[in-house]
Amino acid sequence: MLRRWVPADRGPLARINADPEVMAFRFAPLSRRQSDALIDEEEAGFDRRGFGLWAVERRRDRRLLGFTGLGTSDFGAPFCPAVDIGWQLARHAWGQGYATEGARAVLAFAFDELGLSEVVAHTTRVNTRSRAVMARLGMTHDPVDDFDGPWYRPGHPRRRFVLYRLPRPAWESRGRIRA
Ligand SMILES: CC(C)(COP(=O)(O)OP(=O)(O)OC[C@H]1O[C@@H](n2cnc3c(N)ncnc32)[C@H](O)[C@@H]1OP(=O)(O)O)[C@@H](O)C(=O)NCCC(=O)NCCS
Repeated sequence: MLRRWVPADRGPLARINADPEVMAFRFAPLSRRQSDALIDEEEAGFDRRGFGLWAVERRRDRRLLGFTGLGTSDFGAPFCPAVDIGWQLARHAWGQGYATEGARAVLAFAFDELGLSEVVAHTTRVNTRSRAVMARLGMTHDPVDDFDGPWYRPGHPRRRFVLYRLPRPAWESRGRIRA
């Protein structure tokens, strides 16, 4: 289930954000304060523009598994500005299809509710698990779109980013059928 954030999520999300394995392809694990700030920013974003990163809750035991949702990419790369989809789950929740299931619901919202013409996703080239989610969703990668993440210094092993695109017609013909 995807839902807005509640105060009880702060502890569980902080534990996910503090896990070095979960955060291996990000800058660094987050402190409790940084993790709380992420929830505050997402909640403010929902109020302001109607989308953001939703909390992912497992129905059977109501456990917080992580998040998935939409953000905006506006950092000067050729494909910007764009709406991007992202995901992050607790380590114990990997390998069970939750990220792809949640992302399909996010894409349905993006195309059907927001009426977007395209959703993109990007990650550092070596993040194979995240790239596999993008591929399962029917997103396609053209190396011509790859870019250097401005968040990393030149020469950093995670600096090269891949871009995956899902134009509305591709969602209509492929993604929706699989959802
Ligand atoms: C990226 C991330 C969300 C992907 O998680 P994931 O568990 O690999 O992806 P899914 O939830 O879609 O699960 C797919 C796997 O579950 C398996 N699976 C098991 N039961 C399933 C089911 N009922 N339905 C679908 N898939 C199922 C699939 O076969 C697949 O296994 P595989 O990886 O061995 O091929 C996770 O690795 C993560 O949180 N990483 C850290 C954060 C991160 O890097 N985020 C991206 C930043 S850009």
